Amino acid sequence: MNILLLGSGGREHAMAYKIVQSKRCNHLFIAPGNAGTMKIGTNIALDINNFEEIKQCVLDKRIKMVVVGPEAPLVAGIVDYFAGDPQLNKVIIIGPSKEGARLEGSKNHAKAFMASMGIPTARYATFGKGNIKRGEEFLNSLKAPYVLKADGLAAGKGVIIAETLEEAKKTLHEMVEEHKFGDASDKVVIEEYLQGIELSVFVLTDGQHYKILPSAKDYKRIGDGDTGLNTGGMGSVSPVVFADKTFMKKVEDRIVIPTIKGLKKNKIGYKGFIFIGLMAVQNEDPAQGLDPYVIEYNVRMGDPETESVFPRIKSDVVELFQHTFDMSLNKLDLEIDPRTAATVMMVAGGYPGSYEKGHIINGLDKAGDCLLFHAGTASVDGVAVTNGGRVLSVTALANSLPEALLTCYQTADKIDWKGKQMRRDIGQDLLKWHMPQ
Ligand code: AMP
Ligand code: GLY
Repeated sequence: MNILLLGSGGREHAMAYKIVQSKRCNHLFIAPGNAGTMKIGTNIALDINNFEEIKQCVLDKRIKMVVVGPEAPLVAGIVDYFAGDPQLNKVIIIGPSKEGARLEGSKNHAKAFMASMGIPTARYATFGKGNIKRGEEFLNSLKAPYVLKADGLAAGKGVIIAETLEEAKKTLHEMVEEHKFGDASDKVVIEEYLQGIELSVFVLTDGQHYKILPSAKDYKRIGDGDTGLNTGGMGSVSPVVFADKTFMKKVEDRIVIPTIKGLKKNKIGYKGFIFIGLMAVQNEDPAQGLDPYVIEYNVRMGDPETESVFPRIKSDVVELFQHTFDMSLNKLDLEIDPRTAATVMMVAGGYPGSYEKGHIINGLDKAGDCLLFHAGTASVDGVAVTNGGRVLSVTALANSLPEALLTCYQTADKIDWKGKQMRRDIGQDLLKWHMPQ
């Protein structure tokens, strides 16, 4: 069948890499894609938030399956648009309904959903223009640091961790009254700070059944040792060493099962990925080990987690998507490569601040056994050039994390452009990790 994948990042290149391995994939189109995806499919210049344009493309190219990479079209209701159109409603589309996408689109909604299903998450309350004073009182009842989240989508920047009560109150006013994040911060979720170590767990669900994909950890700050500004992600590893069988059983029983139950109970159509951002928190009783708490839901795969997770999926992903749409995921077994994947993201000089574009990328032929996933790249007269902040990632698979990291960095060092930067410490915290006492 012909397949259309929406998006242009490393996540989409990694998805495309798996999709084209399927015997069921006849031709893959990627909109808009990048200089990497054009090597394995056909890039189409489409506005992925313009559903009419997408419809035209689906009809013109006889597309039978659409996979949605980023959240924006999902939150805008692309899945409902397909379901409601007689020419599109038989096309397989992977993603939640608009109602399902609110799990990412509204933090207040996500917290209320978790509370209604008894899913472990930080204690919270939500405040807006009418009750800022009560918001201040709630802050008084918490201990530092304070977590304030814009309710709506704020390009991944809507979370502020304030160190002092004074700063937290000031931030609350800025968010609600001065529209620090535009309409997204009309409502603000204030929550208790969770002390622990973060990881991501991904689930593919058809709304009734689910498959838990490999765990992953991403590295969000620009600098080594998790310092400096937040970025879209500087690297990832999968699996996460402490997400062992016992921990993953807790994740499944306490979080995944009640989440799917909540979707069913609320009649929320959901045929796609759930990305569960987790904090692993040490139980007061050391014998109980780590407990998972949900930090957030996203309704898509993560980037750069996908670059480590997707290469580990041995099953045919197109078949998985077909069964997702047919609500028969229970009929398939998910086969996972037991090896460890490590990904380092190479970024433009200056990123996440202002950066230059258009620098020629050298060494793309030196990947060896590693996988290269393009993110912000473009092809100019057949030459790959930088075209974004996050430019290109390298993924290595090996029998151990140290080996995967070594191979990954050896390759990353062979690829260059003017101003290239990358973190040197991806995965290092996990190498040194030991169970907290
Ligand atoms: P979010 O956009 O909800 O993923 O939040 C961004 C980041 O803020 C997360 O990746 C965490 O590092 C941090 N964060 C969010 N909520 C909490 C919390 N309740 N306790 C501690 N850190 C948090
Ligand atoms: N890696 C975090 C995200 O995709 O939002």
